[in-house]
Amino acid sequence: MPVTVQKQEETGVPAHAPAAPRCPHLGAQYNPFAGPHVDNPHPFFEKLRKEEPVSFNPMLNMWLVSRNDDILQVLKDTARFSNRDMLFSGTTLTEEAKAILGEGFPLAHVLLGMDPPDHTRLRRLMNRGFTAQRIAGMAPFIEKLAREMVGSFAQDGHADLVEQLAYPLPAHVILGVMGVPQEDVWKIKRWSADWQQLTFEHVPPEKQPELARGVIEFQKYCVQLIEARREEPQEDLTSYLVEVEANGEALTVHELVMAIGASFLSAGHESTTAMMANTWKLALEHGMWKRLRDNRELVPKFIEEGCRYDSVQHAMIRTALEDVEVGGIKLPAGSRLLMLYAAGSRDESLCPHSNKLDVDREKPPQHLTYGRGTHFCLGAPLARLQAQITTNILLDALEDPRMVQGQDHGTWQSIVLRQMRHLKVEWTPSTPKP
Ligand code: HEM
Repeated sequence: MPVTVQKQEETGVPAHAPAAPRCPHLGAQYNPFAGPHVDNPHPFFEKLRKEEPVSFNPMLNMWLVSRNDDILQVLKDTARFSNRDMLFSGTTLTEEAKAILGEGFPLAHVLLGMDPPDHTRLRRLMNRGFTAQRIAGMAPFIEKLAREMVGSFAQDGHADLVEQLAYPLPAHVILGVMGVPQEDVWKIKRWSADWQQLTFEHVPPEKQPELARGVIEFQKYCVQLIEARREEPQEDLTSYLVEVEANGEALTVHELVMAIGASFLSAGHESTTAMMANTWKLALEHGMWKRLRDNRELVPKFIEEGCRYDSVQHAMIRTALEDVEVGGIKLPAGSRLLMLYAAGSRDESLCPHSNKLDVDREKPPQHLTYGRGTHFCLGAPLARLQAQITTNILLDALEDPRMVQGQDHGTWQSIVLRQMRHLKVEWTPSTPKP
């Protein structure tokens, strides 16, 4: 039975992607936006790894790559596999949305969507500001925020750990890193969501102008921030980026807007929210709370094993620049590949009993949640630090919490990230110390 080839307007795929192959593929069953793969894609990913590790999905017009080795082969080969189309993976823009976006800076020139050597230069400049020292220096701020947030519900006996903690905390943290006023947090959250949706989700035409306007407002906000820091530098990452020069090169205003807006203010919180919430859900589902509470040295290991076992950043995209072969399958130049990081991280070749969440593994397997190689997540150390500090504070405050039964987590997915809207838990509050 031939696979129906979807029109490009329906798929959101750039016009230069080659036509879809005409044969049935297991990958055609994959739907990241609705149905069983949103709540639990792992049984399907396992089938893919075993039966058809490189498999075509007509809805996305992308090849699903599910085995760890195949994913690593692609990630290492930046000469033949490009990030250039990464940021045009969700919505096919209407003329009206294009016109609105045309008023601002083009969205393509962002670290995640660039290839070497342009990527190398920009990454070097950004790395130099986002140092281990700067990140470690955020620990007291993260701890203060987390204590305040957890303290606000610790005696209630119930909380929504997404709404009351995982959702607001990383946004406040990244605003702190960038030196952005904390009262602007909700505005920035909204604009970031607008940008992410246009990039990685299928947004219906009637909703696009509103989101596009959000992106433009966000860019204008970043320009004002840049101008303010040029006039009066502060001790923050924005000031560093504005002033940085290496080998006589500085960031252009376009690069600054994309770095500050997309790479830090936007990328800096949504995935962290999703990862922290999922870590706590896994701890509760797998009966790990007490063990972690009594053995704090296990907390970083548990967070990493949770990322391996169930990666919320479930995929990323590459484009083949020439005819290539992946997992024994020949793909023509222009083919788009959906690298299923969540599937690769559960690959049987990566570790024994890979379908088990096991915090006692001797050697923690290297998962793909933060990617690998050239585009390895710039913010991974900050995400890890936040998750460790906040999880420890939660463990201190909540003794024996239980997940509220029958709740709807409101889980949804873009092509690349899975998120929950709710994680409701209840517990018996401890008697406050006199
Ligand atoms: C748990 C939280 C996070 C997860 C799971 C995550 C995941 C990822 C992944 C998988 C990539 C690689 C993309 C690829 O392979 O093409 C990436 C890149 C990136 N991430 Fe994160 N991220 C997280 C937190 C953060 C934070 C907190 C920041 C900023 C402070 C950040 C900024 C970036 C940037 C700028 C890139 C692009 C790097 C490049 O292209 O060189 N991320 N992230």
